[in-house]
Amino acid sequence: MSTMKDLYQSADFKSEKHVPVIDAEDSLKKGSALQVNINVGKEIPHPNTTEHHIAWVEAYFLPKGEKFPYQIGRFEFASHGGSSQGPNTSTIYTQPTVTLVLKTEKSGTILASSYCNIHGLWENAKDITVE
Ligand code: FE2
Repeated sequence: MSTMKDLYQSADFKSEKHVPVIDAEDSLKKGSALQVNINVGKEIPHPNTTEHHIAWVEAYFLPKGEKFPYQIGRFEFASHGGSSQGPNTSTIYTQPTVTLVLKTEKSGTILASSYCNIHGLWENAKDITVE
């Protein structure tokens, strides 16, 4: 039997277009806010067509030494070129890039997942330190 953890793929984002790349400062001062950018296809753009696209990104924060993650964002990318005229006719596309602002007084790990409607689930992680 497979479990969810068996389904997540990861790779170097410089050679794999599905990886959710997490850009944020490595550390923040207690009480300040951390801007977190998550971008799928940062180095190699992922296709964005009605038939093949990134459908969503989720982000979690796991405080160091704790068991349960906190979901810090979920973003649906809902427009992929389709219209009443058919697939790839609208010229309207949501790009798989988001920014969220995180406040935490705990150090830990930001985890991101992305979902391609054809190539499944992908993951990435980044440690941050609260000073
Ligand atoms: Fe894909």
